[in-house]
Amino acid sequence: MKIKENLCRPGGCESGVLRRLWALALAGLLVCAPLAGCGSTDAAKDMGDSGELAGEPADGEAEGDTASDGADGAQSGANGSDADGSNAEAGRLSKPEIDPDDPYLLLVNKTHPLDDTYKPDDLADIKYFAADRDAAARYMRKEAAEHFHQLSEAAAVEGHEIVITTAYRSYGFQSVLWNNYVEKHGEAEANTFSARPGQSEHQTGLCTDVSSPSVNYQLTTDYADTEEGRWLAEHCHEYGFIIRFPLGKEEITGYQYEPWHIRYVGTEAAAYIHQEQITLEEYLNVLD
Ligand code: DAL
Ligand code: ZN
Repeated sequence: MKIKENLCRPGGCESGVLRRLWALALAGLLVCAPLAGCGSTDAAKDMGDSGELAGEPADGEAEGDTASDGADGAQSGANGSDADGSNAEAGRLSKPEIDPDDPYLLLVNKTHPLDDTYKPDDLADIKYFAADRDAAARYMRKEAAEHFHQLSEAAAVEGHEIVITTAYRSYGFQSVLWNNYVEKHGEAEANTFSARPGQSEHQTGLCTDVSSPSVNYQLTTDYADTEEGRWLAEHCHEYGFIIRFPLGKEEITGYQYEPWHIRYVGTEAAAYIHQEQITLEEYLNVLD
């Protein structure tokens, strides 16, 4: 299995040779958008996955904070007044009732692992991806994939290329990643930015790492300071995604700030989580 996750760690990112298939896909999308049934973006999917490993560059320090900051404005239109004269809560969302059986609220973290055999049965192809990553990770659960496509297309309309690097990762895939990171960084450090096999929500098929040309398709905290990263932080909830590992919430999530890792939870939950600037653990009130 070829494993490539261009996660930047302190030390610097190497540049990889990347083919910008997304641009081709976008061109097709824009041309075909008005035409019902035009399969414009399949070309990207079909163009293969070979490419050189961009390596592991650097900069894992969570220095950028603008992704979180950029998200603050979404609810700020709430400047009307309530009947009682208070305007502080005007326009704010109430917490949705949580269905414990909602498949899109599945919690996976260091204390809520998955079995090594867990695999979603509705994985669907992702159309917009960085070409040099493993094709085995270009899937998400169907509803999440559809919403990611909407997100990427909406970003493209505003001039931002946002593509996946890896989305679904099997237990075995995560094992290879984890072992590589432990070998390179030691277990304690690896555990701040990579999940042990079984503890990664990538295995749920409900999340993805994304990147953009402005950071050479790397996974770096610099992403928070890019136009694409800011757009993502501000708008991903509109498509049912949250920034899963926010800045300042490391004690809760167990991981460093990852402005590139988005998790599908559905639009209702995402809107509330975004409004409150909380984590999935806080939303589910599972803080152990
Ligand atoms: N980078 C996240 C924590 C994962 O490996 O799932
Ligand atoms: Zn991730």
